[in-house]
Amino acid sequence: MTHTHRSPSRISRRHVLAGTFGIGAVAALARIGIGTSFAEETTEAVTLATAAGGTLPIPDLLAATDEDGVSVYALDAQTGTNTTLVSGKTISTAGYNGTFLGPTIQLTDGQSVRFDVTNNLGEETTVHWHGLHIAPSNDGGPQNTIEDGATWSPATTVNQGEACTLWYHPHGLGTTADQVALGLAGMMIIDDGSDANAALPHDYGADDIPIIMQSTAVTTAGAFATANNNFTASTSTLKFLVNGMSATDETPTLEVAYGRVRLRLLNASLTDSITIARSDSASFTQVASDAGLLAEPISITSLRISPGERAEIVLDLTAADDAVKLQATVRNTTNGTRYTASMLSVTSTATSAADDLPDTLNTITDIDATDATTRTFTLSNSGASMLINGIAGTTMDIMDANAVMTTLGAIEQWTITNSSTNIYHNFHLHDVPFQIVSVAGAAPTGANTAWRDTIEVAPGTSVVIKMQFTDYADNEYMYMLHCHNVIHEDDGMMLALMVMS
Ligand code: C2O
Ligand code: CU
Ligand code: CU
Repeated sequence: MTHTHRSPSRISRRHVLAGTFGIGAVAALARIGIGTSFAEETTEAVTLATAAGGTLPIPDLLAATDEDGVSVYALDAQTGTNTTLVSGKTISTAGYNGTFLGPTIQLTDGQSVRFDVTNNLGEETTVHWHGLHIAPSNDGGPQNTIEDGATWSPATTVNQGEACTLWYHPHGLGTTADQVALGLAGMMIIDDGSDANAALPHDYGADDIPIIMQSTAVTTAGAFATANNNFTASTSTLKFLVNGMSATDETPTLEVAYGRVRLRLLNASLTDSITIARSDSASFTQVASDAGLLAEPISITSLRISPGERAEIVLDLTAADDAVKLQATVRNTTNGTRYTASMLSVTSTATSAADDLPDTLNTITDIDATDATTRTFTLSNSGASMLINGIAGTTMDIMDANAVMTTLGAIEQWTITNSSTNIYHNFHLHDVPFQIVSVAGAAPTGANTAWRDTIEVAPGTSVVIKMQFTDYADNEYMYMLHCHNVIHEDDGMMLALMVMS
């Protein structure tokens, strides 16, 4: 076991936020047909906010109900509409416990949890816990379909061994891009109880802030784009959303009472990569990759985040005279710049400087891959058909017939090659995080030396990764591996992985 497991601690720091999400929307929540009482009491509104006075909306923390020591989190996938994002257009949206995005689920290692996911979308869905180390039968992949009107209730003990920022989103075969585009995405935060995590800003909504970024396009028909040509059409309206607020129309502002703020960045875009930088080009600190804390904080001046990836950064606010402003440069799959958005302006009311950050954040034990099983995965495209090893995973029969088979405990080393001539792909693996052996032939640097679950692969290059399949096996349910450009995923760039006992 290569994770550094720390003893779980029960840190209760639930904050009831006067979040800007949800104001005035409570009346809209008196829905009919939710069978369980806790689904109603934990329903928290999330709306697609546009220029609501400029303040960054912050998704609420989802409160759990305790059922004999099990924390039960209720999510209700539902539809909505938005009439303010693009004037004159009524856009169909969807969200969890609200009409756009979803509440943040904060978990602690060792906690017993159950998620009660009710589907009120009017069509089939699934909910996948991206990055969560969980059994395949509870992973929320294409086999875990939830019929319209039904509730799915996976239960597990949080077994992550890392402090990290994860997320949840639909994962139906061929419908992921359509459903994520509507707004079905939420953040999940895991606390490993470590001293390092406690030494970083960790007060949700106060100095620990979720930042869900979505590069979207609204078509002339008034729908969120789900295909590449909709993003490039001159008639489409491009919007950069931050926690559902349009930064394209007004820069979201955030005022904190601390000298430092931790931002948990998630690129929940369908297809675009996002490069974050300060508008004054000054450095900032990265403390976590998408799957755990870095070994030590690193100072960077820009940070590229491909679709599905997360990164945690810390901004030092007392060192700045003025607001710290972040900008996002958004690029399409051929790396062409679509636009630059002024995405966030952060100020602090603190007068004294914050304590130093810890020098060491994590102990990352190198996986010994000397005797690893090796495999090669080639990502390619044939026109719009997206392939892994020549296979387009577009039906469950194809997924079954081509499943990658491994065994519980196996250590493997995979070479992921992008053989598309000019299209960027990335590679995401369910179940366990991986370590990076090389990127385009070079040893990894920076956040690539930490645990990862999603990694970009530039055209004509290879990334070598290694992992160990610990704890969970199933002879019926599959994990997935795929490109997290979800348009590519839906077009076939996905295969199944079976971990056999
Ligand atoms: Cu975020 Cu298989 O997905
Ligand atoms: Cu995933
Ligand atoms: Cu791709």
